[in-house]
Amino acid sequence: MIEPALASPPRPPRLPSPLKFLRALQDSFISVWPDAAYSNPITAIRIGTRRMFVANSPAFAKHVLLDNAGNYHKTPVARRLLAPALGQGLLTAEDDTWKRHRQIVAPMFAPRRIAALGEAIVDETTRYLAHWQGLEGAPFDLTEAMAAITLGIITRTMFSADSQEETATIAADMDRYQRILRPSLLDFIGAPDWLPRPGTRAAQRIGDDLTETIARMIVRRRALGEDRDDLLGLLLAAVDRGDLTAREIRDEIATVFTAGHETTAMTLGWLFYLLDRRPEVETRLLAEIDTVLERRPATAADIDRLPYARMVIDEAMRLYPPAHSMTRFALGPDQLGDVAIPAHSVVVVSPWLIHRNPALWPDPDSFDPERFSPARSEGRARYSFIPFGAGPRICLGAGFAITEAVLVLATILQHWRVRMVPEHPVEPIALITLRPRYGLRATALLR
Ligand code: HEM
Repeated sequence: MIEPALASPPRPPRLPSPLKFLRALQDSFISVWPDAAYSNPITAIRIGTRRMFVANSPAFAKHVLLDNAGNYHKTPVARRLLAPALGQGLLTAEDDTWKRHRQIVAPMFAPRRIAALGEAIVDETTRYLAHWQGLEGAPFDLTEAMAAITLGIITRTMFSADSQEETATIAADMDRYQRILRPSLLDFIGAPDWLPRPGTRAAQRIGDDLTETIARMIVRRRALGEDRDDLLGLLLAAVDRGDLTAREIRDEIATVFTAGHETTAMTLGWLFYLLDRRPEVETRLLAEIDTVLERRPATAADIDRLPYARMVIDEAMRLYPPAHSMTRFALGPDQLGDVAIPAHSVVVVSPWLIHRNPALWPDPDSFDPERFSPARSEGRARYSFIPFGAGPRICLGAGFAITEAVLVLATILQHWRVRMVPEHPVEPIALITLRPRYGLRATALLR
C-alpha cells in the first residue's frame, strides 16, 4: 500500500539568503532547511557577524549536549524569548542556580513517584472524555482537546486540584505568549538588549499576569495550612528552608507548568493524526490495548505490557518532535568534526533534522512504529533519537511524559476512535514547540 504523504514544511531548494532566512525563522524554524540540511552532519550559516552551526548527527549531538556541555549555555535569544514568562526557572537558568533548582525539583520526578500518579492521570482523562459524549461526530480542535487533558493532569498531579482556576489562567496566558513572541531581526544583528523588540512589552505584561496568578495560587495553598505531597508543596518547603526565593518559586512553577503540558499534548495530537493516516497501525494498537486491559482502567503497572503503544509514541515523537530544536551559545571555541566553532557562535542541535536524517533512518518521512521494535532498534546510535534532549539538561519530565502519554492514549482508545476532518490542511510549524499551523480538526466516534 502506498502511504499518503505526511504533513511536512516547505523545503526550499537551497538555504535562503540571510534576510529571507531570518524572515522564515520568525515564522517557523523548520521551514528554512533544504534537502541537503537533512543529510549533512553540519550546516553552517552566517548572518551578519553572527555564525550558526546546525548539528545533525548523533556524535555532534552527544558532543554538544553531553561531552562538552560545560562549554555551552542556552542562547541569549532563547533567554530573551522565555525570560518574561519563565524568569530563571529550570529551562533558562545556568550553572549554580540551575544545579540548585534541579536538585530541589528532581525528587518530584523519581520513578516511584511518577508511578503513583498513574491513577490521577487516568482519572483526569476519563473525566475530560465525558465532554466527547455530546460531541459525537461534530468536528473539534484536537490539539485544544489534548491540551485540556494534559492541563488537567499537570494541575492535579503537580499543584493539586485546589489550583484549577489559576492553572487555567496560566495556560491561556502561555498560549497567548507563544503566539505573540517571535525572534526579532534585532536579535541576529547583535543589537543590545535594551532596544525594544516587537512583542516584548506584551510579553512582559503576560509575565506580570503570571506573577499575580502564581502569587494567588501560593496564598490559597498557604491558607489551607496543610502539607500536600505535590510539586507546589515541595517548592514551598524549599522556600521555608531558605533554599528558594519567592521569585524563584514563581519561575519554577511557570516553567514546570509550561514545559509540562503542551509538549505532551502536541505528541498526542500528532500521534492521532498519524493513526488516522495508517489504519493498520491503529488496528494493532487497539488489539494490544483491548487484550492487556480487557476494558478495565489502565494503571502505571500496565505500561510495560503495552510495548506497541510505546513504539507508536516514540515514532510520533521522531516525526514530530515537540522540542524541535535545542539552541546553545558557545562560551569558548569548540570543534565539531572538521568544523571549527568560534566562541560566541550559536550551535543548534536539531531533533527535527536528526530524526529525519536519511543516513540514520531509512525512508525517514514515513510513519513506521516497527522502527522501534527491539530487533530494529539494536545497534542504533543512542543520540539519533533525542526527543527529550540529552546530557545534564535532559528533560526532567521525560518519565512523567511517557507514563502520561501511554495512559492517556490507552484510556482514549479504549472507548473512542479519532478521525481527522479530511479537507482540513495540516502543516507543522516550529514556534517554541512544534505545532500544527491550522490546528488539527477531528471528530471522535464511540467504538
Ligand atoms: C513529550 C513531552 C516532552 C518533551 C518532548 C520534552 C522535551 C524536552 C527537551 C528537549 C528538553 C531539553 C531542552 C534543552 O536541552 O534545551 C526539556 C527540558 C525540560 N523539560 Fe521536558 N519535555 C516533555 C515533557 C515534559 C514534562 C511532562 C515536564 C514536567 C512535568 C517537563 C519538564 C522539563 C523541564 C523542567 C526541563 C528543563 C530541564 C533542565 O534544563 O534541567 N517536560 N524537555
